[in-house]
Amino acid sequence: MAYENIRLETQGAIATLTIDRPKALNALNSKTLQEIESALHSLSPDTRALIVTGGGEKSFVAGADIAEMSTISAAQAREFAAQGHRVLMMLESLPCPTIAAVNGFALGGGCELALACDLIYASEKAKLGLPEVTLGVIPGFGGTQRLTRLVGKMRAKELIFTGGHVSAAQAKEYGLVLEVLPPEKLMEHCRTVAEKLLKNGPLAISQAKRVIEFGADQDLRAANELERQGFAVLFGSEDQREGMKAFLEKRPAGFTGK
Ligand code: CAA
Repeated sequence: MAYENIRLETQGAIATLTIDRPKALNALNSKTLQEIESALHSLSPDTRALIVTGGGEKSFVAGADIAEMSTISAAQAREFAAQGHRVLMMLESLPCPTIAAVNGFALGGGCELALACDLIYASEKAKLGLPEVTLGVIPGFGGTQRLTRLVGKMRAKELIFTGGHVSAAQAKEYGLVLEVLPPEKLMEHCRTVAEKLLKNGPLAISQAKRVIEFGADQDLRAANELERQGFAVLFGSEDQREGMKAFLEKRPAGFTGK
């Protein structure tokens, strides 16, 4: 399918979604969000990892599109936030692991896009932040909630109240980024991580993702119940038989996702 503001490429079981609107530093307008949504819908069920990155040299995504937002009404803003929430929730709910390759500015909606991915790696030249208050608004694509859950309430307040940009190294210190790579190594690193994941049982990874995501917002007893269910359900899979048999036969497992 032809898109205007994004690219979706697939190499084997690894898909790469590039937000590619460099003239606006890949800012997310409604059309770009629509395109991301249809790209996520179009992913093959055989996709086992998705890498999300930004096109051009400078930016991952520099936020929601300020020009588009500048004249909208409160009702339209609510709709725009709902669209952002829907698309990022869809990204977060994909059964396969998702990896944000933060290659430059990840600000506002861009930082929120990264936060909806399972793993975040950044280039040394990346800058992250939620500068919405500098525009007289607050994050609207889940940033107040996902950032708080990831780095804690006080750090999230500091980042959101100041609206400042932080370096990739600082973001790593805050637990917002896993690793910081030289720019030319970032994509290679993300692919290597994705390839490592391909070796493991895809149903097990999806189940782990589901249990972590749903469990994180529950009390420990309810969350452990989810874990028990997820654990048990995998014992009905061919992958569980194969994984354990392969271990006992001292050979690598050949998982089929069944
Ligand atoms: N929306 C629309 N256009 C944007 C944009 C955005 N978020 N960010 C950058 N652009 C555009 C600029 O307007 C500029 O366009 P022109 O060439 O037509 O003037 C082009 O991209 C290049 O940007 P700059 O000239 O500003 O580049 P710079 O290197 O000097 O600065 C920057 C880079 C620091 C990222 C700066 O562009 C910037 O501060 N951008 C806005 C970041 C921001 O505030 N993001 C949050 C948006 S609000 C939000 O996201 C709400 C939400 O949660 C849903």
